[in-house]
This record gives sequence, C-alpha cells and structure tokens, in this order.
Amino acid sequence: MITEGQSDRALAEILGHYKKDKKNLIPLLQEVQTKLGYLPRKALQEIADFLKISDVEVWGVATFYNQFRFVPLGKYHSVVCMGTACHLAGGRLILEALERELNLKVGETADDGSFSLERVACIGCCMLAPVVVIKDKIHPKMTPFRVEEALIPYKQESRGKLKEGKSGSQS
Ligand code: FES
Repeated sequence: MITEGQSDRALAEILGHYKKDKKNLIPLLQEVQTKLGYLPRKALQEIADFLKISDVEVWGVATFYNQFRFVPLGKYHSVVCMGTACHLAGGRLILEALERELNLKVGETADDGSFSLERVACIGCCMLAPVVVIKDKIHPKMTPFRVEEALIPYKQESRGKLKEGKSGSQS
C-alpha cells in the first residue's frame, strides 16, 4: 500500500509535468489515478489549487466520469470485462455472481482492503470471453457457477494474511 509520503511525492512529480491550464484537468486526474490507483481527496484539493479552480469543479468533473475511483483498490482487485464479446457471453451474470460472492458493488473496496470490484470494456482477449481478471490473473471462459471456485484461493490467502496480521500485532 502506498504511504501518504509516497503519495505526496508522486503527486508533486505529476503536477511538475503539467502547465497550470484548466484543460489539463482530466489528463491530471487520469495520471494521478494511474499512479496512485485512485483519487485521494487530498490530491483533488491539490489539483484544484494547482489549476486555480474550485474543488467543487474538480469533484464535479471527477465524479462525472465513471473511470475515476475515490477509494483505494483492494489487494485482490477483481475486474469483469463487459466488452461486447464478454457481455454477449454472459458478462452481466458473472458480474452479479461476483457482487454476491464478494458482497461488493462495482467501484467498491471491502472494508478490510482485501477485494475490490470493477467493470471494464474489452481487455483484448475476446477469444477467451467471458473474462474475469483477479489480481492480474486472467480467468477465461468464466461462468457464474465458477466464480466461487475462482475466488477460493484469494479468499484463503486473504484470511491467512488477516490471521498473520492479528497474531503479529499481539506479539
Ligand atoms: S470483450 Fe471481453 S475481452 Fe474483449
């Protein structure tokens, strides 16, 4: 997980590459999200100060586009492809199965930071449709029934890490 200091440095570096021009708002938001994985409130404020526009305006633009996230991604970030091929092959049902299994909606991250869920357009492997990506691993030809099975190793690893964390903090 990125620390606040690292986040501040990354933001300063990104801002250093841009002119203070309102036209740069969206590219700035995109680059910050690419670098940090989401748009922290503090970053939105700093972008507003940098471009000399109100934070309400920055917030309005950022929330208008559903490409932007305002919470960090989970350790096991899960992506459901909803491009045409995957959609036609049942992507919607797979997305619903993941929402049920993870108890998350699209764009959300679990409170313990384990899982997050997102939908994307085509990820470029339509022959394998429908496709789910969990922690950068592609799960091809997914079905709603295989969602639970695909999540098992990640859930087990996540529980193991949580236990390690708890026992570590007790010593
Ligand atoms: S539409 Fe899903 S990979 Fe292309």
